[in-house]
Amino acid sequence: MPRVSSTHRPPVVLGIETSCDETGVALVDAERRVLAEALRSQLERHAPYGGVVPEIAARAHVEILDHLIAHVMAEAELEFRDLAGVAATAGPGLIGGLLVGLITAKAIAAAHRRPLLAINHLEGHALTARFVLGTGPEGLEFPYLLLLVSGGHCQLLAVQGVGRYRRLGTTLDDALGEAFDKAAKMLGLGFPGGPAVERAARKGDPRRFALPRPMVGQPGCNFSFSGLKTALRQTIERLGPEALAPPLLDDLCASFQAAVAEVLVDRTRRAAALFCEMHPGSNALVVAGGVAANGYLRACLTTLADEAGLRLIVPPPALCTDNGVMIAWAGLERLALGLTDDLAVPARARWPLDPAAEPAPGAGAKA
Ligand code: KG4
Ligand code: ZN
Repeated sequence: MPRVSSTHRPPVVLGIETSCDETGVALVDAERRVLAEALRSQLERHAPYGGVVPEIAARAHVEILDHLIAHVMAEAELEFRDLAGVAATAGPGLIGGLLVGLITAKAIAAAHRRPLLAINHLEGHALTARFVLGTGPEGLEFPYLLLLVSGGHCQLLAVQGVGRYRRLGTTLDDALGEAFDKAAKMLGLGFPGGPAVERAARKGDPRRFALPRPMVGQPGCNFSFSGLKTALRQTIERLGPEALAPPLLDDLCASFQAAVAEVLVDRTRRAAALFCEMHPGSNALVVAGGVAANGYLRACLTTLADEAGLRLIVPPPALCTDNGVMIAWAGLERLALGLTDDLAVPARARWPLDPAAEPAPGAGAKA
């Protein structure tokens, strides 16, 4: 088959994601088509340690990234010179992995004289809904409210434009995915914890244990999960070994998930009120990040959205967890605005979307 001339196709960006424990690579075009995609999880390598080990992660990205890039380029029948840009996650995340992805992108960009796009991983999550729905009036236009709940982040943001964010709330301690992972570890459920807790919770009674709902009813939109985690640990200790097997295990998971849901709904309700005051006429609520894959939380947020007159948008689970498509898409959005980066752009372990936001009291690198 003759190759289509690159002048007749919409711009294509290569996206590279290496900020945590997934190596994601994708080729996406400006018409929101995924031309090719590859995603490798490192779960098996980290599982024995109960969490992501940064050194192991960086090494695993090095081993596989070049192969994945070659694979997607071959699948899409593209040469590097056909690319409109090369996008890579430059932060926030584990610095070793970030360097692997960003340096690879820089090498391709420099060797083939292509624009480089250094992407904030959180912006990747934030803009995914526009990839899914489109960017016009029929799709999802700015501004919208974003609930970002992942393994490393738990934030409520007003998304005002590409590169323009206002943080309305953040976690004072653990991210929500981290809280799920720690709960799962205490219950002997393995890593990552979120899906395992959700599975067990389906069979359990959410009213069996009255776990605390930290921050519910308090002013502001910040989160905190450490009190809930401690209460869960104390309950497990009180129950003894029986806590680690059904039916108690299922009831504990269901009770934990119900407490989390109440916190999420309360905080999001407050943020939505603030957002609607800031942006009258806008009512879209987007949920993104790995935890958005949780069906129970989605259902609770759907109820909230119906009550509050919000338009709830949750990308499909495969686009909620880390992937290369979201980085390629963020690259396309930035490229369309001419927001390209210099080859000297650094990788950043910490990179808040809203640099003007006050550091939340007690918040660590996750804020
Ligand atoms: O967005 P993501 O893939 O990576 C980060 O950027 O952190 O999110 C991973 C997190 C993990 O903590 C995982 O336990 C959580 O998302 N997660 C879930 C579910 N699926 C993944 N949490 C709750 N319920 C789920 N079904
Ligand atoms: Zn993520």
